[in-house]
Amino acid sequence: MLKKFVYGQPIPTEAVIEDISLSQEAVPYLTVQTDKEGKMTFSSTLNDEDIVYGLGEAPRGINKRGHIYESFNSDDPYHTEEKRSLYGSHNFIVVSGKTSYGIFVDCGAQVTFDIGYTVYDRLAITPSVKDFVLYIIEGDNAYDIIRQFRRVIGQSYIAPFWAFGFQQCRWSYYTADEVREVVRQYREHQIPIDAVYLDIDYMEAYKDFTVSEERFPHFKAFVEEMKAQHIHLVPIIDAGVKIEDGYDVYEEGKAKGYFCKRKDGTDFVAGVWPGRTHFPDFLNPEVRRWFGHQYQTLLEAGIEGFWNDMNEPAMFYTDEGIAEAVDYLKNFDFSCNDSNKFFELGGRVGGLANRRKDYAAMYHTINGESVCHEQVHNLYGYNMTRAAAEAFQALVPDKRILLFSRSSYIGMHRYGGLWTGDNQSWWSHLLLNIKMMPSLNMCGFLYCGADLGGFGANSTRDLVLRWLAFGLFTPLMRNHSALGTRHQECYAFGDTEAFRGLVSLRYRLIPYLYREYIKACEQNEMLFKPLAFAYPQDKIACHIEDQLLLSDDLMIAPVYEQNAIGRTVYLPEEMRFVLFKGAEVVRSERLPKGHHFITVGLDEVPVFIRPGRQIPLCEPSESVDQLDTDTVTYLSFD
Ligand code: GLC
Repeated sequence: MLKKFVYGQPIPTEAVIEDISLSQEAVPYLTVQTDKEGKMTFSSTLNDEDIVYGLGEAPRGINKRGHIYESFNSDDPYHTEEKRSLYGSHNFIVVSGKTSYGIFVDCGAQVTFDIGYTVYDRLAITPSVKDFVLYIIEGDNAYDIIRQFRRVIGQSYIAPFWAFGFQQCRWSYYTADEVREVVRQYREHQIPIDAVYLDIDYMEAYKDFTVSEERFPHFKAFVEEMKAQHIHLVPIIDAGVKIEDGYDVYEEGKAKGYFCKRKDGTDFVAGVWPGRTHFPDFLNPEVRRWFGHQYQTLLEAGIEGFWNDMNEPAMFYTDEGIAEAVDYLKNFDFSCNDSNKFFELGGRVGGLANRRKDYAAMYHTINGESVCHEQVHNLYGYNMTRAAAEAFQALVPDKRILLFSRSSYIGMHRYGGLWTGDNQSWWSHLLLNIKMMPSLNMCGFLYCGADLGGFGANSTRDLVLRWLAFGLFTPLMRNHSALGTRHQECYAFGDTEAFRGLVSLRYRLIPYLYREYIKACEQNEMLFKPLAFAYPQDKIACHIEDQLLLSDDLMIAPVYEQNAIGRTVYLPEEMRFVLFKGAEVVRSERLPKGHHFITVGLDEVPVFIRPGRQIPLCEPSESVDQLDTDTVTYLSFD
């Protein structure tokens, strides 16, 4: 049961694609308050036993209670517990208890979800603007509500089969030879791999849709050469277009008025990797068509996958921000003896990136009207990815192209997947990755994953292994690390056997994972579910956040603590415990319902098969297209 309420004159987001008529019915459990400026807050009382699910890419646990979240797509690489925003805004929550209901606030501007933070038993949702659509979804239970929601937002993007292979990224592999070396190492050590990423340095001066002749000569032939080794190259595309005379994308965008504006109608400028850039106005369909068709250059070179980045959009600085900081410095009294002033100085100079003031100074043209970016901020990355996906549909309709984005909003799930941005090589971020997967699935994002091993900071062998042991279940299985950090490729830690084993296990599971993934996309299911959805009567299971159901067949229980030799697992019913050492089964026994301590080595992966279920396993291979998907053995509960 879906109820739709429209407030003011919202800018359509196209998150919901089913026609839903306006509801006249009141929602008895929601109270509405309007403040002096006309801002509305919707609130309800949370009962002690209520669990609040949702919010997709957000910090903290599966149950979002006790914290406050702000939907405002943010380029912030420190995903610590106190943060309120990450790169995506997914304004869908489900309150699950004696009565269950879902709420989706469809709004491109900031929305605040205070889920028992200010008052422990009060849920309060406050859109920052007066124009938005509110959906209330009622159903028998949380999963029923989620499936109804998923139905009205449309089918999730389906990635190509090869994109379930293992993928290696690094900021950056600077030359074709460096890429060749990565592939050589993987092949020599017989660690399966299907893709190597090209981060910003493949471009000429960070100009989108260019390839450096010097570092990647004869690019098309290079793409071919890689394909002959069963490797897909996946280049990055950034949102900002470099301002440079003679650069065709810039020249054309400028001539046609395709870039976001300042209030006075001049093109808005912000500094990102290429230096000063303009941001294409992706909210305009004509601009989407134009930008999307730029991908053709790379498609023609044989590229079949892309990652869209910096599309919050991230701004390192603006001319206005720099001018303000310079003014401030000029007038700063360095002889003063007030430490507060010095802290302020640090903030003024160090706080030039992603300023709200700069977002507020940028304008889009929507249906001929100028709209301040603040009103539609959360839709920007979504529409960049939509631009690419719509162009692929026109240019290569018979091919599935890999596409995922850093920034997102519900609706984008129909066009591409996402990765969870710049995490760190911290154990806590492995746990965050585990907890985030079901929340993302609730909001329609199925092709997703985190930077395995951690992006920022130096990783360690044990962390990479434990992270791979979880990542081998996630649709996007990609190891990625930042400039200046220690290398963390599967061959970078000396021995390779444990790494080979874990990645090979992934390949054994690929036919199963891909089948379940497609099913989840087509039938509006979740690939990763909290235990509560299958065992609602089991009070212990309902509050477990570090074990997940994978489809309907398996329970997984990753080890995510440093130095742990294993972990305690709770079985809500009798299950078959199967322990893989690398790709091989070394233990298989039925365990009764209850708590069990299981020992799990760094090269081992536990799975639990539910009663009456079985999963197919094929033989490992070096790449997805070499998998023999016809010859399978089954692991079953019986
Ligand atoms: C951003 C991306 C990261 C990438 C880097 C350089 O930080 O999130 O994945 O490596 O930019 O392009």
